[in-house]
Amino acid sequence: MPTKLTINGETRELDVPDDMPLLWALRGELGMVGTKFGCGVGLCGACTVHVDGVATRSCSTPVSSLAGKQVSTIESLAESPVGRALQQAWLDADVMQCGYCQAGQLMNATALLAKNPSPASDEITSAMAGNICRCACYKRIHAAIAEVAA
Ligand code: FES
Repeated sequence: MPTKLTINGETRELDVPDDMPLLWALRGELGMVGTKFGCGVGLCGACTVHVDGVATRSCSTPVSSLAGKQVSTIESLAESPVGRALQQAWLDADVMQCGYCQAGQLMNATALLAKNPSPASDEITSAMAGNICRCACYKRIHAAIAEVAA
């Protein structure tokens, strides 16, 4: 039976196997390739989306668990004021190198600031600790978040 959920404000029905992770459905079924595959086992954060506003690893979240939920992906980031502010801060701080992990970084940062608009430095570090960046852009990521949080 298809799973009915909302993705970026649009109601979708996904007729996929119950155990298919959301990441596979987003990229393979819906062609939404902004969300990235990194490790596939919940360890790197590249696949982070929001489920009902909470940062969630889409590689480890079966579509069948999302019935009636609101999913937001990087494609809708600019629709939120915090998301737009973070995108600009990312550009101002020249955060990216290869860019591959940045969708997940931005989605996690947006969820952090939505929950805690003024995180202390150690709270930013702690909240972002699970998002791996192979180019090691951590200082610039932290600075961009702190800029928006200030
Ligand atoms: Fe999902 Fe790495 S791809 S956490």
